[in-house]
Amino acid sequence: MVKIAPSLLAANSACLGMVVSDLEASGADFIHFDVMDGHFVPNLTFGPKILRELKKYTTLPFDVHLMVTNPDDCISWYADAGADLITFHLETTQNPKQTLKLIKDYHLKAGITLKPTSHIEKIIPFINDIDLVLVMGVQPGFGGQKFYPDTPERIKQTKDIIAHRSVLLEVDGGINFENASLCIDAGADILVAGTAVFQNATLSENIATLKGMFL
Ligand code: DX5
Ligand code: ZN
Repeated sequence: MVKIAPSLLAANSACLGMVVSDLEASGADFIHFDVMDGHFVPNLTFGPKILRELKKYTTLPFDVHLMVTNPDDCISWYADAGADLITFHLETTQNPKQTLKLIKDYHLKAGITLKPTSHIEKIIPFINDIDLVLVMGVQPGFGGQKFYPDTPERIKQTKDIIAHRSVLLEVDGGINFENASLCIDAGADILVAGTAVFQNATLSENIATLKGMFL
């Protein structure tokens, strides 16, 4: 069964404690934090203090998606604040192996993120160092964007590269009720969703629909 990581970027920022408790009660498997520094992407979001305080409201693992120019500088902040998994964008570090090691030295899961326009083959040199690949369906920076139609094909390419290894495949950005099954069929293990989780129906109905279950 695919796992769902709701992105708090789409939640009501005024009541995140209640939101994460509700997400846990509604069948979510991770909490996805889109950490943005206003430099790598033109947006600014969650500092470590928010994660530290939200840790008291849920037992779900914290999936931290770093969209920052110098990830090495802030890995300890998020690790100390309660991150369980940290991913970073390949192009943001001179030495991805060192960045991966920094994350693993905290005994966290470590992953590499690819923008929709990054070549999938770029992960090959790091295949033995990663626990997860995060394939983006939109350009990083904002929720509510349109899903790149070639994303399922990119998921398949990624799946072929990581085949027979214990590397998880997470897909993030523009996921909705129409394309979720395409991503799952292509090999996604975890779907990140913001808009689709927090829209219209209840959290549990939306999460169940994304999982392919129908309440
Ligand atoms: C975009 C973020 C995504 C985004 C997902 O930079 O990495 O996690 O918040 O939101 P939706 O599901 O609305 O595209
Ligand atoms: Zn994200």
